[in-house]
Order: sequence, then structure tokens, then C-alpha cells
Amino acid sequence: MLSIRSLRLSLRFVIPLVIALTVLAYALVPLVDNLMLRWFVRDMDIRAQFVANTLHDPLVELLQQENRSKINALLVRATRDERLLAVGVCTTEGKLRYRTRAYPESIGCLPDTAPGKKISPLHRLPQGAVHVSINPIEQEGAQIGSLIVIHDMSFVERRSTDTRKYVIMFITLLGVIISVITVFVAQLSWRGWMDGVRAMIRGEGIVKPFAQPAVASELQPLAGDLRQLLRSYDAERRLADDVTVTWSPDFLRKLLHDQLAGERIIVVSNREPYIHIKMPDRIEVHRPASGLVTAVEPVMRACSGTWIAHGGGTADRETVDRNDRAHVPPENPEYVLRRIWLTDEEETGYYYGFANEGLWPLCHIAHVRPIFRSSDWGQYIAVNQRFADAVAAEAASDDPVVLVHDYHFALLPQMIRKVLPKATIITFWHIPWPNPESFGICPWREELLKGMLGSTILGFHTPFHCKNFLETVDRYLETRIEHESSTISRHGQLTLVESYPISIQWPPPWQETQPPVSECREAIRRSLGLAADHLIGLGVDRQDYTKGILERFRAVENMLENHPEMRGRFTFIQIAAPTRSALEDYQLFESQVRNLADRINERFSTGSWQPICLKAEHHEPEEVNRYYRAADVCMVTSLHDGMNLVAKEFVAARDDEQGVLILSQFTGAAHELHESLVVNPYHIEQTAEALYNALAMPDFEQRARMRSMRTLVRDFNVYRWAGRMLLDAARIRQRERLAARIGRDL
Ligand code: G6P
Repeated sequence: MLSIRSLRLSLRFVIPLVIALTVLAYALVPLVDNLMLRWFVRDMDIRAQFVANTLHDPLVELLQQENRSKINALLVRATRDERLLAVGVCTTEGKLRYRTRAYPESIGCLPDTAPGKKISPLHRLPQGAVHVSINPIEQEGAQIGSLIVIHDMSFVERRSTDTRKYVIMFITLLGVIISVITVFVAQLSWRGWMDGVRAMIRGEGIVKPFAQPAVASELQPLAGDLRQLLRSYDAERRLADDVTVTWSPDFLRKLLHDQLAGERIIVVSNREPYIHIKMPDRIEVHRPASGLVTAVEPVMRACSGTWIAHGGGTADRETVDRNDRAHVPPENPEYVLRRIWLTDEEETGYYYGFANEGLWPLCHIAHVRPIFRSSDWGQYIAVNQRFADAVAAEAASDDPVVLVHDYHFALLPQMIRKVLPKATIITFWHIPWPNPESFGICPWREELLKGMLGSTILGFHTPFHCKNFLETVDRYLETRIEHESSTISRHGQLTLVESYPISIQWPPPWQETQPPVSECREAIRRSLGLAADHLIGLGVDRQDYTKGILERFRAVENMLENHPEMRGRFTFIQIAAPTRSALEDYQLFESQVRNLADRINERFSTGSWQPICLKAEHHEPEEVNRYYRAADVCMVTSLHDGMNLVAKEFVAARDDEQGVLILSQFTGAAHELHESLVVNPYHIEQTAEALYNALAMPDFEQRARMRSMRTLVRDFNVYRWAGRMLLDAARIRQRERLAARIGRDL
């Protein structure tokens, strides 16, 4: 459609054009008139000359004979030519001797017909214009008279009127054509220009690697300046935020209010934050062992809004209203939990199958083969669509802020974008992103990538995962990737790919209510029948093959082998929450963990002491927190992990600034918690040595390390994680609005 703006712009050109063409028409018409008249006069001159030449010789002869009747007859015959009005013969004295009937009286012989004298051939008579040609009649070199040939020139006037008409028509047509072309070109340039400015404001690049320049060439000097300005503005703002801000629930709430006009956000994840479980005599509320839930739940409490998740608890249906909504946390409701019910078939295909047998092993380098089945893929699409419908139903505006979580919903961003094109969709991928070759194994890799690129922001834990993702997209999809700004543009949709290291709530929960460390140490030891100075190592995980539990046990075994003095003095407690137990790989892993613990226990146990205490059951977070506070060492030995929040939870729990963290180099957390003892979990001896060193570490060193890590977790807490993403979302929303406004106002 023609935009009013480009029409207005075009009018600025079209009006002067119309004026110029009118002036041109006025100047051109007399000019053309004159030119045509000159052509006609020349034409008449030639005709008259021809008539005179034809009549000359017979006329000389008849004049000699003075044969009046024959002379008249000759002259009358000559005037049969349509345009020849009259002819006459004058004497050398200027007397009209012979003439045809129509010969105009007023012409006569013309006073100045003297030979050699140049006179204008045109004469205006009452009946119209005539062309008069005077031709000498000569006999033997002497002039004996003149032949006057008079042509009718009235047709010239008629022609001139026609010509004027045609010239004006031609100029008008020319004007119209030029105007149409101008408006059309203006419209195209306007659009191109506007697209260019919008692209610049959105932070798109100047050059497309395999297509046209994203920003029109004439905008390129301006593009540099504008982008530099925006970048320095962003950088200044980020710096100001980070230096001056203490990230807290209040600050996050305020930020949402200021930057996102008080939006209530919509969160989507597979796992729900509160699970209602039916017991024989009551309903219990469980909080699941999930890094995602650990991080997102405090953010939701701070921001409020709606969390859409799979209702998987045995009493979930009994605890919702008729819109499938529950208000949570149950003891002090702060946001809405909207539950989606899945059939067994859907859960098997989408959750167990595609998400956990396909994508989970695909993204973790843990040497478990991914399994991809077409039927699982079908359920994955269908369930993603069901969640997209729920988002559309829960959205209070046409541009909600939606936070999509994890590998269960790779298709969801694009599905939401389809129904809510103006939504701000933040997708956070909680697990690692593999390299392009590994990801390429998935038969539906293009579909997954396209689905994810419906996001406004795509977040990963580390810059390395972002890099892997950009390379994967580059390998399998036709898009424009701007490495400088870390954006991907596909079909006009821009996605910012950014790293946002996830974290935990700070101040830590239960800070006010938890028992002192000494009490926790004593209580835990007492419950296990251990002495007060007994050393405790701790592992807290879901029983997942990515967590390196077997490697950890082997390291414990190796340490006891190499340091026999630790036998009877040290116990390793493994809290292992059952997870995805319907899957064969997980069942196998559970039995491997159990068998290995049994074998090591058999090998070293003496009396009542056993080196490994396996607690393979669900523990509520408060309980886990007491174990953190009671332990001397916490071992996080994942073979591959997005972030691993157990590491951060352990640090947060230790307000006594004691305790040592052993951390796998293959976790995102190892990029932040540099004061932990970083190990390669595949290297059993190295991990065993780290365990021994941790148990022997002097208090002052523990304090120094723990203090530094606590400062980091305090400053880079989960509110900052969410805040950074929401700030970036707000910035993009502002840019998009600015781009739309520029499109409207200019
Ligand atoms: C990881 C995933 C989460 C998931 C959690 C627990 O942390 O990133 O999305 O919720 O594991 O797994 P589950 O399958 O029990 O939800």
C-alpha cells in the first residue's frame, strides 16, 4: 500500500514538476507555432515558385500577343489547385493588369514589389492569412511584369490550434508519467530507507554475507554513527546497572515496572514448580529437583504472572480451579500456575521420547546415544502446539513478554510468534548446545532451529554454547548472522543470541530460619550414627547419567585406596533424586549407581561404617540445604552440564564460609566459581586427589575460597540473570517501537 508519508514526500517533487511543465508548455507552444509557420511558409514559397515557373513561358507569349482571354483562362486554370487562392499579373509600373476572381483587392500589386526587395510573404486579410509570392516575368533578360501568386494560409491557423492542443496533451501526459514514476520510486526508496533505518536500530548488520546489503548503501555512513551511539548507550547503561545495582526481588519488580510497563510475564516450562502428590491420608506439595525450577521460581515470585507447565502430580487435577489454575506458592500465593494435562501417549512421545531420549543425550556429551522416533517427533510437535495455544489464551495483550524454557519447547517460540507476532519471546536453553556435527544427528534439526528462531532473545549459559548455536544455524539454515552483535536474522525476524549465566536466589532461602551450621553438622552426623568430627562429602543430583555419579564414587574409592587413614573417618553422602525412571537408560543407570555403591561399601566397610551413603529418594530443598551446611566437601562432577546450580546452592548455604567445592570443568559453573577445585571427572585419580586435598584443606584457605565464591553468587544472582534478559528484552522492545515510530513520523 502507498504510504501517506511517501505520498507527501512525492508531492514535494510533483508540485514543482507540474509548475515547471506548465511554464514549459507556455514557452513551447509559441515556439512550435513559429517553427511550423516557418515550415509552411517555406513550403508555400516552393509551391509558388513552381506555379510561377510553370506559367512563365506561356504567359510571356500571351502577354506579347496581348491575348486577354487566353491569359485569363491560363490564370483561372492555374488556380484550380486547392490552396492557390488567386494569381495576378502586374506591370512593371505596379498596375494590376490581369487577375483571377478571388484576387484580394487589398493586395493589389503591393507598393514595394520592386525586384530584389525582400518583403514578408504573409498577409493578414479579413478572410484569413495569405501567402503572397511576387515572381518577375522576364523576356530576353528584361523584366516585363510580375506574377503574383497568392496562397490561402488559413489552414496554418487550424494546424496551429491542433498543434497547441497536441503539445499541451503531450506535456500533460509526460507530467503524469513522470509523477507516477516519481511516486513509485519514492515509495520504493522510502521503504528501502525505512527498512535500512529499522535494521540499524534493531542492530542488524550492514552487510549480508550472501545477499543484498541489509542497510541501503546511502545509509551506511549514518548506520555506523547510529549503531555506535546505540552501542555506547547500551554499554553505559549496562555498566551503570552493574556497578550501582543490587539485584533483588524488589529491584527486579521495579525494573519490570519501569522498563516493561508493569508487564506480567508468562513463563512456559515442562516441569512445574509445585507438584501435588496424593498420599493415603492427605495431599503433599513437592518441589521438584530441577535446576530450571530452582532458578525460575524466585523470579516468578518477584515478578508475578502466569507459569504454564505440565501438570504431572497425582493430585494436580484436584488442586486447580475450573480454568486449570492454581495459585502458588500454596502457603503464600504470588503467581498463577496454569497446568496443562498430557495424555500418557503425549507424555511418552514428547517428554520421555523426543525430549529425554533424543534431545537430552544429543545436547550432552555423555556418551549415551540419542534415539529419534518419528512418532515421538509427532507428539513433540503436538504438545508444543498445545502449549502455544495456552500462551495465546493466557496473554492479556497482543505483545506479551513470554519466557520459554528449555529443550522441551524448541518449536514453541515460532508457534507463539505465529499467533502473537508482536510478542517478546525470551527462550532460555538450560542445557548445553553441542557442536554442529553432533546436533546434525537429529533428523529434524532444521525444524528445531527454525522453531527456536521465533524467539526475540535466545539465551544460553555460556558464550561457548552461543557460539555452537550460531555455528549450527550457519551450517543448516539460510540466515544472516551478525557475529559482532550476535544476532540472527531470518525472514525479517531478528534473534539476539546471548549468554546469561543462570544462578540462584540471593539472599538464599531459609537464611532467617535455617539452623546454625554447627547444629546441622551435628544433626546430620547423629542421624547417620557418625562421630561429631566425622568428615562428610556430599553429592546432590538427579540420578542422571550426565551427572558423573559413577565417576564420583570411583574417585571416593580411589581416595580411600590411596589414603587409608581416611577409612572410618570419611563418609560420602549421595542424595540422588529419582528421575525419568520410565526410561531404560535411567533404570540401568540407577542400578549401576546402586551396584557401585554396594561394591565400594563392601570393599571398605568396617563395623557400622560405610564409605558411601546412597539416599536415592526425593528430598525437599530445605532438607538438602541442611546437608549442604553439614558437609565438608561438595562434589559436582557432571560429565556435561549447562550450569549446575547445586554448586551455587552449596556456596550460598555456607554462611560460615567453610566447606570446599569440587567442580567438574564441564559445567557452566566452572567458568564462574574459580575458587572451587576444578577437576576432570573422567580423570579418577585427579578427582580423588582433589577430594583428599579438600578434606585436608586448612580453615583459612576454605574461608578465602568460600568468601570469594559467595561474593560472586551474591552479585550474580538469579535476579540479575532474569533482569539482564528482561532488560535486553525491554531494550529490543524500545528499539522496535522506535523503528515503528520512525516509520510513522518521518
Ligand atoms: C534439567 C532440565 C530441566 C528439568 C530438570 C529436571 O535441569 O534442564 O528442564 O526440569 O533437568 O528434569 P525433569 O525431567 O525431572 O523435569
